[in-house]
Amino acid sequence: MSQRLRKVVFPVAGLGTRFLPATKVVAKEMLPVLDRPLIQYAVDEAVDAGADTLVFVTNRYKHAIADYFDKAYELESKLAQSGKKELLAMVQGTLPKHVRCVFVTQPEALGLGHAVLCAKPVVGDEPFGVVLADDLIWNGAGAGALRQMAELSARENGAGVIAVEEVPHAQTDKYGIVDASPLSERAAKINLVVEKPKPEVAPSNLAIVGRYVLPGRIFDLLETTKPGAGGEIQLTDAIESLLGERSVLAYRFEGTRFDCGNKLGLVKATLAMALADPQIGAATRELVKNSCA
Ligand code: UTP
Repeated sequence: MSQRLRKVVFPVAGLGTRFLPATKVVAKEMLPVLDRPLIQYAVDEAVDAGADTLVFVTNRYKHAIADYFDKAYELESKLAQSGKKELLAMVQGTLPKHVRCVFVTQPEALGLGHAVLCAKPVVGDEPFGVVLADDLIWNGAGAGALRQMAELSARENGAGVIAVEEVPHAQTDKYGIVDASPLSERAAKINLVVEKPKPEVAPSNLAIVGRYVLPGRIFDLLETTKPGAGGEIQLTDAIESLLGERSVLAYRFEGTRFDCGNKLGLVKATLAMALADPQIGAATRELVKNSCA
């Protein structure tokens, strides 16, 4: 199983309660970091990893993601007529030409595992990626986190790969936590995964973050996964079952993760991007200096 990673799933059907009321009508993945929505950073990362089929698991209330990647006829013809070539290229450049989008609906927000299972008819039996766009991982001009993971999977004979990061011990109950035996500087073989353990029983402080390379077999396991932590069907529980059958690696990616599923994380990401921006970087630095004085 060391095929190329062609399909990437974006579960975007969560309720996004931490960003209400904005998320009443738009998925949180459409919230912008500077001028680009979170989903654009995630899609760019998937394309960088080699994906040509992007599967969005949406809910029936939020159409903005489909509209965003669709052609915007009126806007494009107005920009063309007024000779605004750069803006036109920007509007048309949300997706490379060879990439196609498929939208599937998650009828009810029953959890991340359930959302991933909704993509089964499109993904089938091949290895695929999962990207949670609210975890923005930025590696500058270097390889994106998903590409790093796809390359590791290919080198390791198609092993499943899960992105992990060390978190403060007191926060283990916010994440899936792994117990893993180191294989190299960045990779380790997972022995155990537990969803949101209390700090006193957590096997480590190595937390699963929003990137996965998984075999198609995970769908069969998800089909029989019972609701777990929070009454939701957890992807972590299906991965725990997968461990009994084949090797799954934890991978400490190169890059910085911003947890944009909460307000402070979104502010941090925005600030980091603004400071790095050639047009507003210097002014942002000044602004931050003055507001801390
Ligand atoms: P979160 O745990 O962040 O939940 O989901 P949420 O509903 O999006 O946000 P809050 O906690 O209410 O603020 C992690 C990822 O899984 C997706 C979300 O869209 C997000 O990308 N998800 C979660 C689904 O697609 N469906 C679900 O049923 C649950």
